[in-house]
Amino acid sequence: MRYRHSRQEEARRLGVRGWVRNREDGSVEAECSGPREAVEAVRRRVALGTHFAMPVEDTVVMAELLAERFGLPLWRFENSGSEATMDACRIMRAATGRDLIIKVEGAYHGSADGLAFSYWIDVSKAGPPDRPVPVPNTVGVPAAYSEPLRVVPYNDLAAVERVLADEGDRVAGLILEPILMNCGVVLPEPGYLQGLRDLLHRHGALLAFDEVKTGATIAYGGATEWSGVRPDLVALAKAIGGGLPIGAVGGTEEVMAVVADGTMEQEGTFNGNPLSMAAARVVLSEILTPDVYGRFDELERALTGGISAAFERAGIPAVVTSVRCRGSVHYRPERPRNFRETTDADDRLQHLAWLYQLNGGVFMPENDPWTFGVAHTEEDVARVVENAEAFARAVAD
Ligand SMILES: Cc1ncc(COP(=O)(O)O)c(C=O)c1O
Repeated sequence: MRYRHSRQEEARRLGVRGWVRNREDGSVEAECSGPREAVEAVRRRVALGTHFAMPVEDTVVMAELLAERFGLPLWRFENSGSEATMDACRIMRAATGRDLIIKVEGAYHGSADGLAFSYWIDVSKAGPPDRPVPVPNTVGVPAAYSEPLRVVPYNDLAAVERVLADEGDRVAGLILEPILMNCGVVLPEPGYLQGLRDLLHRHGALLAFDEVKTGATIAYGGATEWSGVRPDLVALAKAIGGGLPIGAVGGTEEVMAVVADGTMEQEGTFNGNPLSMAAARVVLSEILTPDVYGRFDELERALTGGISAAFERAGIPAVVTSVRCRGSVHYRPERPRNFRETTDADDRLQHLAWLYQLNGGVFMPENDPWTFGVAHTEEDVARVVENAEAFARAVAD
């Protein structure tokens, strides 16, 4: 047996206690799949009881931890990102007494029927680029769900202004991924997010950030901190749960009042369940600590810089976009500004690049941004860059 000490020690330094062992036959053995503190917290919690259908102490601490990170005082919990975004929309409707929700084309908010529109779609069916029509993402979503939905392109304040000018008194709010992360990474232009907030508020409507991918990963306070724009509501899930099912929605006192005073029902048998809360408390208080993000910056520089340099040397028409631990490549010469612009990228190159990574020992998502975490090392990043260099050389030849 050969032990990869550097990886183990690095992981320990960052608070991840699991270890990985390379066997001589090339296979890999791992002691545990999650950060050990989170695994231990869950083990302890199992012995104390796993379900009471009411808050436990960890639920209260979780709400405090999230309030501190996102500057939003009141939080409710669910078990997935789909539920968190669904609740965010319901809260916007309940708080304003209005029905219409605006969503951004190309943004994914999970599987709820009311939001299962206009992502990963055939754009030839989606109307003009500046006035998209809602297109269901899958069969089985009744067209009636598109009636209270309006779709706008990302990075286009004029399109939102148009919807608000036409039907502003019916619009409850707008939900978006503040940084698009479900058609590669697409960044907001300067002033876009603040502009959205100002426009919506001017019309008595609300702004919700879907931070299921960005929350607590790209910054301590997610895209809310990263952009300096505080929305009325934030939806979270994924990473904050340390591998257990979780969703969370937080908001201002004014907006969350409809939940707090019982006007609006927000419920679920396993919401805020003790196991997820125990794991999440450890993730937020012991693993994704403030020092982690500076380290993510170093890894991002090596990863994004290394891949960009390899593509530039080889003359590959591609742009690399990253925000700390999440990033992606669009195989087109220009950085895309919105979903439609991502659709002309060369997906043959994308697939080939993915195969080079896989054959080089790195299992990356093919159509999703990459994510590195606290357990990843400089060595891991160097391997990704080497694979990208091999891919770039092969394409250039
Ligand atoms: C931005 C965003 N919102 C919501 C969701 C849905 O989350 P879940 O799969 O936990 O329901 C996802 C899942 O990938 C997501 O990326």
